[in-house]
Amino acid sequence: MHGIRVVALGIALAACGQQQPKAPQQEARPASAPSSSAPAPTSSQAGAPQQQAAPAPPAAGDTCASVQDAYARFKGVTEGKNADYIPALAKVDSSLYGIALVTADGRVCEVGDVQHVFSIQSIAKVFTAATVMQALGADAIEKKIGVNATGQPFNSIIAIETNEKHRAGNPFVNPGAIASVSLVPGGDAPTKWNSILGTMSKAAGRKLAVDAEIYKSESETNTRNRAIALLLKNYKVLEGDPMQTLDLYTRECSVAVTARDLAMMGATLANGGVNPLTHERVVDAAVATKTLALMQTNGLYESSGEWAFAVGVPAKSGVGGGILAVAPGRYAIGTFAPPLDAAGNSVRGQKAIELSVSCVGGNVFDTASASAAK
Ligand code: DON
Repeated sequence: MHGIRVVALGIALAACGQQQPKAPQQEARPASAPSSSAPAPTSSQAGAPQQQAAPAPPAAGDTCASVQDAYARFKGVTEGKNADYIPALAKVDSSLYGIALVTADGRVCEVGDVQHVFSIQSIAKVFTAATVMQALGADAIEKKIGVNATGQPFNSIIAIETNEKHRAGNPFVNPGAIASVSLVPGGDAPTKWNSILGTMSKAAGRKLAVDAEIYKSESETNTRNRAIALLLKNYKVLEGDPMQTLDLYTRECSVAVTARDLAMMGATLANGGVNPLTHERVVDAAVATKTLALMQTNGLYESSGEWAFAVGVPAKSGVGGGILAVAPGRYAIGTFAPPLDAAGNSVRGQKAIELSVSCVGGNVFDTASASAAK
């Protein structure tokens, strides 16, 4: 990734709540995602949640005021650049900007373009890793893929070549995510896909689907990911046909979501693996814990250390402009703002989450806030 690097977020000490608190925004239903062009699965096979989410009540005024404040402060930021190595992403309106916060008990706060659908991209990796850990145990990810940060960009080939113990790195870089897809149980691609999309849909509390335009654009241009998949096959990291595995990976990255969906998916992890509105268990609490640990150490790629240092909540970014951040046991934030920094992380999203967390609380390393919450 190339672009403008956000060297230091450096806004955590900004005063909170200087903007007059406004009433929480009226609840809005998320927009429907574009329908899938994928041959597999049909919507009824897609592992859609059995239960319909009840309407979500708004979060407390102070929390909403902090989110609205973070939105307002960074609305004018123009740093960063849309991802353009996937041509369809370059065309997305760079001014779009939305923030949604969902508490672990399902209350919602949202501001800006929270109904705009965009491709989930690498944030899908979170839920595929969780799917694998749920089916095979956390050991499968640790032993077969790895859990350490690579310190390299998400599509690094050097990282594969130099990491002899764990060629795939971790489940959130592209090699590890492609390897995760290959570990998802199921004899054939449609079965695996049902499982991958099913976890994401259950976490979101609604049936998600692939954005056909993004899927086509990425499939036509993903030469680097093809090289990665073939290299992993060479190192015997992938079972079966590497191009079929890569296709499932490309599909998962093309799933259309809103900022509100991301927040709900994160709230499911914040709530120990249970969707706070549908009350459906998506993964075991122990799997949610391991998933959050992976987000803390690897979620923002080579910036993950800076992120933990500055913000202190597990998070995962996607080159579609989304970021999902989770304050375990408390809430999750989903942001959408397409321009990215050099590591591939949304510039406005990072700033908005940093300020929101500093105001609402939830930094996992903040002992004062943790004991106050007891
Ligand atoms: O494989 C890719 O390059 C994209 N589908 C996903 C990369 C991504 O989202 C990295 N995240 N910040």
